[in-house]
Amino acid sequence: MSRSIPHLKSQFLQRLSEIVGEPGLVSDAQQKDDHDTDWLKKWHGRSCAVVRPASTQEVAQVMRLCHETRIPVVTQGGNTGMSGGATPDESGAQLILSTSRLRSIREVDPLNNTITAEAGVLLAHVQEAAQEVNRYFPLSLGSEGSCTIGGNLATNAGGVAVLRYGNTRDLALGLEVVLPDGRIWNGLRALRKDNTGYALRDLFIGSEGTLGVVTAAVLKMFPRPVARVAAWVGCDSMENLLALLALSRDVCGDRLVAFEMLTQASVDLILQHITDARRPLENAHKFHALVELADTHENGLAEMLEGTLEQAMAAGYVEDAAVGLNIAQRQAFWKIREGISQAQVRAGKAIKHDIALPISKLPRFVADADAAVKKVKPDACIINFGHMGDGNLHFNVLMPLDTPAADMSKAVKQLNRVVHDLVHEANGSISAEHGVGQLRRDELRNYKSSVELDLMMQLKQSLDPNQIMNPGKLL
Ligand code: FAD
Ligand code: MLT
Ligand code: ZN
Repeated sequence: MSRSIPHLKSQFLQRLSEIVGEPGLVSDAQQKDDHDTDWLKKWHGRSCAVVRPASTQEVAQVMRLCHETRIPVVTQGGNTGMSGGATPDESGAQLILSTSRLRSIREVDPLNNTITAEAGVLLAHVQEAAQEVNRYFPLSLGSEGSCTIGGNLATNAGGVAVLRYGNTRDLALGLEVVLPDGRIWNGLRALRKDNTGYALRDLFIGSEGTLGVVTAAVLKMFPRPVARVAAWVGCDSMENLLALLALSRDVCGDRLVAFEMLTQASVDLILQHITDARRPLENAHKFHALVELADTHENGLAEMLEGTLEQAMAAGYVEDAAVGLNIAQRQAFWKIREGISQAQVRAGKAIKHDIALPISKLPRFVADADAAVKKVKPDACIINFGHMGDGNLHFNVLMPLDTPAADMSKAVKQLNRVVHDLVHEANGSISAEHGVGQLRRDELRNYKSSVELDLMMQLKQSLDPNQIMNPGKLL
């Protein structure tokens, strides 16, 4: 006689608890709900259980069990993702594997400038560990107090310092990964040169939990910048903002570490919804930028930024600027910039476009995309901001909080089409830093060539033949 599904489930849970013990299984219903839902409250799933292994060996045993029983696995880090990648489906059949107990920093090597951290270590803790040995880990996101290094690697997160230091991929030297069948790949090499075949590390980075579970990584550290200055700048056009970016790079070179853009509508939204956010400039400007320089010593950094801005004003690129020389002034600027995610959540339902283009094409794109969106929705509230220094815009459209689900899904389809078509025409990317997850899965199929999709499918099939790793995401 065959065994019933509830019986199989309880047997599976029993075997899980034998691997991870009582603290390794989430039993509180509220806590489980928090894992089943994303932070935006946009995706709601229902997992069969949430397991929290405390070591790579435990992850491997959990994966062996899932391989044997064909239970699908959704790896979850800080659950701060923007694309629904860490949320299970509603079947009640998928297991959430949380990395929240993989929290050790295994090694800090200031001479090799590397840090080896387990996947569940919070990004902020990696930054602090680097600082303790007078080094710098440059990945910086608004979510750094809650997101994990494993999640950063799995999404190849970007953030506000990509312009100078690159994205997460550029900051990783080695990985340790548990494969879908439970084998452990130890690729924790702390090397800057290693040409021994295919770049497996890069295959797992950005794979959003669809190929394996990242359990640890060797990350690069840099000399610690001790001097920082920032300016808030107002401009009347994207063209002038672009000219300011080019000038800043010419004059300041690698000291230019951030060049973030916000439209006036984005700044207004933040001022409306974020307490303590102060108006950065007296008057309104079509476009704003937060520009930051950093260096390992003072070396006239403030004079360099002021000189650049004077030159930019003389050339007519900049309408107004405020320079933040001390920590409080700089933090006030960053408070505005970092307030945008929360402001959008409070103000409405965002239709997000996380796009990347060659920087030179941004002004044309913004003009065309503004016009195309307004053609579809003349009263659209466009919230356009992002990491202009690396060509990544968050070209979002904010819908009222009470928009019915059917209207929302119609607007998403219409606006995704016009915005993503323009991105595609300019040879850009429809997923710059937030990942594909479930949000952009269908869109990916619209824009990737059949050859590229075919190669991705073949890789997926060879690494995860039973399709148990994060089904319904990315591919
Ligand atoms: P999760 O959300 O838990 O997971 C994300 C994806 O990674 C899922 O597909 C999951 O299955 C997979 N995953 C997680 N851990 C592992 C692992 N160990 N092994 C394999 N797969 C794994 N993102 C940016 O890129 N730039 C920004 O500037 C930025 N700003 C943000 C600001 C705020 C306020 C918030 C809330 C989010 C922001 N994000 C940003 C998005 C988010 O923080 C990043 O995508 C982050 O990298 C996700 O990390 P996480 O640990 O929360 O991952
Ligand atoms: C940002 O740049 O602030 C983020 O990626 C967050 C967002 O898009 O809300
Ligand atoms: Zn961003």
